[in-house]
Amino acid sequence: MSATPDPTPPTPDDLRAGSRERWERSSAAWERERAWFQEAVDPVSHAMIDAIGPQPGHVVLEAAAGLGDTGLLAAELVHPGGKVIISDGAEGMVEAAKRHAAERGIVNVEVTPMELEWLDMSAASVDGLLVRFGYMLVPDPETALRDARRVLRPGGRIALAVWDRPEDNPWLTAGTEVLVRHGLAEPFDPAAPEPGPFSLPRERVLELLGDTGFILPEIDRIDVRFRSPSAREAREHFVGLSDRATTALKGAPAERRAEVEADIEAALAAFPDPDGPEGAVAVPGAVLVAAADA
Ligand SMILES: C[S@@+](CC[C@H](N)C(=O)[O-])C[C@H]1O[C@@H](n2cnc3c(N)ncnc32)[C@H](O)[C@@H]1O
Repeated sequence: MSATPDPTPPTPDDLRAGSRERWERSSAAWERERAWFQEAVDPVSHAMIDAIGPQPGHVVLEAAAGLGDTGLLAAELVHPGGKVIISDGAEGMVEAAKRHAAERGIVNVEVTPMELEWLDMSAASVDGLLVRFGYMLVPDPETALRDARRVLRPGGRIALAVWDRPEDNPWLTAGTEVLVRHGLAEPFDPAAPEPGPFSLPRERVLELLGDTGFILPEIDRIDVRFRSPSAREAREHFVGLSDRATTALKGAPAERRAEVEADIEAALAAFPDPDGPEGAVAVPGAVLVAAADA
């Protein structure tokens, strides 16, 4: 009996196309869940802004920006004379970010489609670059960081954020483990060829910043909490935001879906919110914020 040949591994372009399709599909959910997600990771945005130190007149680029929550914090700081460019590869995210900037009445902002791996900006045209939860998602983060350094003026600053280890991020892993247990999803594998939330561990981030010519890289961990008034709402937010979970649940036989949802809620209820009302949950996450000079 001959062994089944390994399936052909996906090319980087296959990975890019699959990722783009997923993010286009997710943009409506990210717009719906924006407030819940941002409330949890607001300290990350502020740490990133502090790390680049925007000044009046600066040009600040946020790439892979999603709804642009971090970049928009810089808009007031670069006024007068400066501007913020919010960019994302997914058209749906760009449209959502335009609505978000308009709702907040921010005028010194441009919102535009842009690839993270090849930034559509002139050399040395940017004073500060922000990338929150982006670099771990691209097939070639080294090329992306080289391009980041190209667009930054000498002495410009980069601040980036990635998730710390899976075991530090139950907000994302606890529900996913339930789906894995039910045979509906694959576990997160930081070493898989397909990039994912845990593809860039601390050592790799520092190595990449050094290899791409950034100076004096530093990295800090920020602990965050994803709060919901009940485990049911926590499950709804988690499934709403995670394309992997949404897809997995859609694949569950209808008669088993309620059981899987109840199991996800039980997993999230294991993190009661000590500061919240009865039944409220605060599911932990941990983020690495790295910064360096170009
Ligand atoms: C996890 S979300 C983070 C969004 C936002 N930065 C935040 O922290 O709320 C990842 C974002 O990166 C974008 N993205 C993924 N790959 C990209 C690429 N190659 N070029 C540009 N954007 C990309 C997605 O469309 C999505 O908006």
